[in-house]
Amino acid sequence: MNFMLRQPIVCVLGHVDHGKTSVLDAVRATGVAKREHGGITQAIGASIYPRELLDAACGAMLERMKIKLTIPGLLFIDTPGHEAFTNLRKRGGSIADIAILVIDGTKGIEAQTIEAIEILREYKTPFIVAFNKIDALNGWLPQRGSCFADSVKKQRADVIERLDEKIYQLIGALYNYGFQAERFDRASDFTKQVAIVPVSAKTQEGLQELLLFVAGLAQKFMEKTLTTSEDESGKGAILEVREERGLGKTLDVILYDGCVRQGDEIAFNTLTGPIECKVKALLEPKPLDEMRDPREKFKSVNEVHAATGVKIACECAVDAVGGSSLFVVRTQEEAHQARDSLEQELKQILFENSDQGVLIKADALGSIEAITRLFAAEKIKIKRTAIGAVSRRDVADATAMRDRDKLLGAIFAFNVPVADDAASEAAAAHVKIFDEKIIYNLIDGYKRWRDESVEGERREAFGKLVLPAKIKILDGCCFRVSNPCIIGIEVLEGRIRKDYPLMTEDGKAVGSIKTIQRNKEAVEEAKKGDQLAISIPEPFFGRQICEKQTLLSSPSKEDVAAIEAKYLKALSDGERELLGQIKKIKGYSVF
Ligand code: GTP
Ligand code: MG
Repeated sequence: MNFMLRQPIVCVLGHVDHGKTSVLDAVRATGVAKREHGGITQAIGASIYPRELLDAACGAMLERMKIKLTIPGLLFIDTPGHEAFTNLRKRGGSIADIAILVIDGTKGIEAQTIEAIEILREYKTPFIVAFNKIDALNGWLPQRGSCFADSVKKQRADVIERLDEKIYQLIGALYNYGFQAERFDRASDFTKQVAIVPVSAKTQEGLQELLLFVAGLAQKFMEKTLTTSEDESGKGAILEVREERGLGKTLDVILYDGCVRQGDEIAFNTLTGPIECKVKALLEPKPLDEMRDPREKFKSVNEVHAATGVKIACECAVDAVGGSSLFVVRTQEEAHQARDSLEQELKQILFENSDQGVLIKADALGSIEAITRLFAAEKIKIKRTAIGAVSRRDVADATAMRDRDKLLGAIFAFNVPVADDAASEAAAAHVKIFDEKIIYNLIDGYKRWRDESVEGERREAFGKLVLPAKIKILDGCCFRVSNPCIIGIEVLEGRIRKDYPLMTEDGKAVGSIKTIQRNKEAVEEAKKGDQLAISIPEPFFGRQICEKQTLLSSPSKEDVAAIEAKYLKALSDGERELLGQIKKIKGYSVF
């Protein structure tokens, strides 16, 4: 077999509008300008940036850094965003060898940036930060097409300082996510540090360094994983299942190993399990200048080799699920292996636990796997995962779960619709549906909801407890002797609420507070220092209680236990001391 290095697969991630597409376009433009060295080949969902262009774009720098490129170029995945990245999956990881995390330098880290960082960390994918839009920095003097090293020399000291300030902020933020980062020209160890390359897609500055670092990193650390064999049966991932005019459903596949030929048998997953069928056609995008009729966007080819992107037309494409692995099977043995591997894949990603947990509904295998991984990192338990819209059955399941644990009565809908009847039933059953397009927001939303629910319950429970309180009956303030007895009091310590049972200092029960009145208006609670009137139905003034007497609240043993277990921090020093006295009077043992 003929082994060779394939192109590293480079995925672009980042927050919406931070410039992912622009950075890729700009990188491609560096190639277009140097067409004589051979053009960039468009593939489905990807573009192949050949070695000659890399040499031309950053040859001098490569020499300076003593890097000799042996990789045949780079395969950039054009479909930006984490969905493409997560769907480019193979067992245990991503087929993306490297990622470029695009960050708008004027904005810094935003929601999808965090999500991308979390995903890259979970998948252990090496990445480089393209610190984009440096041209928008106040005072920046654009040096069109220049490398960053030259460009920065032309800038004023205060502008460089501003740039550095922003980069330091980013370094700090990345550190909080567990990454050591450094501006690329100051980094000392690329195995440990994430290189930050300042670029501008608009003025095409810094792109040489970006390319250089992507290629250099790939080359340096991944030679082993980049070997492929020319005619081995292909392996790939289904990026998307797409409707194509005149072709019906087709598979957009990124091939990371071996080759696919027209007429090959291929295996991939459907929702119900692996399926095999024959490749009817392999399609590549036509170069723009060849496209006489825009309806004929593709040209048919006989075979394609890794790494590349290709559109596959086949009988069963309609049943395929996004994010599934795809294998070419040319022998019985390969067919067996593929089936096993695909069954495992489905079992691992779409599962139902007997344990308790939340429900996850998403659009593709890749997103479900990413969500599952990120939830596991947050220790959020999952009961069931599935592909498709949120249905009434999901709500029924979540309702049953909520009855056992309120915090698990939640459904996560990622990039899938929620059926109307499911939404209304969920609202009625107090089942929370998190409907988001950003995984990070799902997790964040859930954590916030969970904390609020816990805090709410805590507050509610705290509100029901009888807390330590000490009151004094004021001199000459008996407004009614009995039935109910109405007296003026001052709260000496703690707080009293309606229904609090009271006792004397030697532990005799006095009765419970029926109302608390301030200036003839009923109030729920009175605090230390308050002087007001309370009514107590049981006692007869002058017998059980009298003027200037001190009374205490009389909590049950359970209330005292609950206070000591959970709420001691919510009490003042005085209240805690009083609690000790009350326990003694009531004869409760020290817990
Ligand atoms: P989505 O695909 O929608 O997530 O966005 P994206 O990340 O691909 O961003 P895109 O490339 O579409 O750029 C978003 C906006 O930023 C556009 O208006 C671009 O013109 C602008 N932009 C991108 N790069 C630069 C840059 O280097 N400098 C300046 N000034 N603007 C830029
Ligand atoms: Mg874009």
